[in-house]
Amino acid sequence: MADSLQVYFTALAKIAQLLAGESDFQSTMETILVRLARLTGMKRGMISLYRRDLEQVHVDITYGIPDTSEPVYYRLGEGITGRVVATGRPIAIPRLDQEPLFLDRSGARREIDRSTLAFLCVPMKFAGQTVGALSVDRAAKGADLPGEIAFLEVVANLLAPRVHTRRVQEENARLREAIGRHGPMGTVVGNANSMRLVAEQIDQVAQTMTTVLITGETGTGKGLVASEIHYRSPRRDKPMTRLDCGAIPENLVESEIFGHQKGAFTGAIEKRIGKFELAQDGTIFLDEIGELPLASQVKLLRVLEEGEFERVGGGKTIKTNARVVIATNRDLEKEVAAGRFRSDLFYRLSVFPIHLPPLRERGADIILLADFFVQKLGEKMGCKISRIDSSALDMLISYHWPGNVRELQNCLERAMILATDGIIHGYQLPPSLQVAASGDESDPGAETGATFQSMVKAYEITLIVEALKKTRGNQTKAAKLLGTTKRVIQYKIINHGINYKKYSGVKVGK
Ligand SMILES: Nc1ncnc2c1ncn2[C@@H]1O[C@H](COP(=O)(O)OP(=O)(O)OP(=O)(O)O)[C@@H](O)[C@H]1O
Ligand SMILES: [Mg+2]
Repeated sequence: MADSLQVYFTALAKIAQLLAGESDFQSTMETILVRLARLTGMKRGMISLYRRDLEQVHVDITYGIPDTSEPVYYRLGEGITGRVVATGRPIAIPRLDQEPLFLDRSGARREIDRSTLAFLCVPMKFAGQTVGALSVDRAAKGADLPGEIAFLEVVANLLAPRVHTRRVQEENARLREAIGRHGPMGTVVGNANSMRLVAEQIDQVAQTMTTVLITGETGTGKGLVASEIHYRSPRRDKPMTRLDCGAIPENLVESEIFGHQKGAFTGAIEKRIGKFELAQDGTIFLDEIGELPLASQVKLLRVLEEGEFERVGGGKTIKTNARVVIATNRDLEKEVAAGRFRSDLFYRLSVFPIHLPPLRERGADIILLADFFVQKLGEKMGCKISRIDSSALDMLISYHWPGNVRELQNCLERAMILATDGIIHGYQLPPSLQVAASGDESDPGAETGATFQSMVKAYEITLIVEALKKTRGNQTKAAKLLGTTKRVIQYKIINHGINYKKYSGVKVGK
């Protein structure tokens, strides 16, 4: 046991050192597998990445396995590797010949007596999510499977942040390629399946007269989708009027929507034309419909059913041909149950619902949108940002975005004001995201403990290395840049094995 502890410790130290180095992903990971083989006697090793957008687990880096011309991958849940990623739990197989689940898709063990081999596979987790798997075969004889699984889990946790970043970069590249091929969908940026559905729905409904109900949390783009519907419809050259029902006093909402006659109520000095009349044959967009008083709901229902209304205070019946688009961030079903919203109006509005998913459920769209805003805001603000660094990308991906797309936009605008070298760095993002990156307390699951440690370490190293690059290896200046003391920086540099001398001649921006 003491022997294996010594071996494990040496291997971990070596891996940590390799990870802190500057080599690219491929060569770092290959070297790590070679080291693992030399130090622990593992025969073959594989690092597989879970590609969320494809729902496949791809074997990316191998040791002791012949190259195949075709990529090797498992669907989620398929084979041992696919199962480990799907469940987030390790699997140890004492003898490979007795395991029907084992697929050997790489073909490496075709000629080998499988009864002599044990196989171990552990998940790689980052921020509570499984980002890939590390698998290893070794001689079945004399294997201490529980001990080795525990060791491999530590290794996997050390590798996870790099694997996560790699995965994000790859997804990003695939997205850029996909978007180059198909062209962006109007002004609504998004490539997640849920957003493709939204695009399809907009296309379908824009050509019709149908009333549309747009739902979604605050900042998910409801207003944007409403405009998109108008501008893709045959009414695009007609007016579009908007009213936020939550933004004006209850007693005035009705007159804003339908207009009023002179003298209709105290203060109605002049006749007023409402949003329906102003929209003519165009589109009227009623935002925050959940705020519409019950009395006005009846009147709205009548317009939707009969296409006519009267101004507040009476007068002649007015016919309207305006197309109605409605939005809300409330759950209207609940509002109906609570008696605050008429059920007949709710059913009338639910003919064509479009739901905008929260940003945290849109996967790599976060990065797509970030790129989009950086470019758009860059033009507006007259500043050029060449890239968002990997620690910032990690933070953007890990954060839960309660304010959705609007919050993302604000957060990038802030970072762009702070950016001095044309790059957005993690530490320039708002404090709320820094908290997310160092372990979200609302994040359930005890399994995140080890990942948390390696995440903090990875961010610390990134921050220090970036600061050292900027200051050409000057520790005093780097400390100042990071708002800390030279003593702290020196301690961290030694602790993380960072070679600060290396940066004395480096230019910023890799
Ligand atoms: N998919 C998207 N592509 C590009 N920009 C977007 C997208 N979604 C939202 N935005 C931008 O984010 C900001 C917020 O969107 P919007 O105002 O439409 O959200 P909302 O759902 O209406 O929010 P609220 O409920 O607070 O009214 C806007 O500046 C909008 O242009
Ligand atoms: Mg809105």
